[in-house]
Amino acid sequence: MLTVAHELRSPVAAAQSLMRTLLRGLAGQLNSQQREILDRIESRHGLLLDLINDLLALAASKTYDPDRPLERMALSPSLLTVLDRVRDEAGGKGVALTSSLADAPLMVMANGDGLERVFSNLLGNAVKYTPSGGSVEVRTRAVDGGAEVSVTDTGIGIPEEDLSRLGDEFFRARNVRGQSIGGTGLGLSIVREQLRRLHGRMQVESREGQGSVFRVWLPCIQDP
Ligand SMILES: Nc1ncnc2c1ncn2[C@@H]1O[C@H](COP(=O)(O)OP(=O)(O)O)[C@@H](O)[C@H]1O
Ligand SMILES: [Mg+2]
Repeated sequence: MLTVAHELRSPVAAAQSLMRTLLRGLAGQLNSQQREILDRIESRHGLLLDLINDLLALAASKTYDPDRPLERMALSPSLLTVLDRVRDEAGGKGVALTSSLADAPLMVMANGDGLERVFSNLLGNAVKYTPSGGSVEVRTRAVDGGAEVSVTDTGIGIPEEDLSRLGDEFFRARNVRGQSIGGTGLGLSIVREQLRRLHGRMQVESREGQGSVFRVWLPCIQDP
């Protein structure tokens, strides 16, 4: 699976850069109809690349990689990296992104890639599913011998009947299907697989039309 996805990614990425060359007019001026068609091809292509990247991340999350053992690390640096990455996207669509991180270092057994995958899917979803004018708040705290990260948004929420299916591969809730909000339905499966490896858990509270809270809990290592 991992090899297949790798083999898929390089030609698709190469084709995308060729399309960008055409769109920039570097191979001659395009008329408006040609540009419109190429724009549509490029956007479909972007979806294909998202799918390949998510399949790769899901396969990597399910496979034990001896070169990437779990190690003792603080949780905040990975979270800050992801916060930095989504800040522009949130700002660009007019969603206020705030964070309030615990002073304690919250040491967990993990690896940086895995933690970033968890946080980037949760934060990416919160920003993506929150319309302009809304807010996303990230908090961390020590609780029950572990670290809790909560991501609260004022977005579109999740219909109650769909809550139990979150994390199923390719599952997307009723209120996003057929909408223009793109997605693969694999992000929460990636989160679920990562949490299985890290002995963590996830809890979701949501109300359709009002917003959602995703809480992730990871066991902490106490200082000797
Ligand atoms: N913060 C959120 N607000 C509203 N709906 C959400 C949120 N996070 C996840 N969802 C719902 O859960 C589904 C699965 O999430 P995910 O696996 O990340 O897939 P997607 O690629 O669609 O974002 C989404 O399609 C959406 O219906
Ligand atoms: Mg997602």
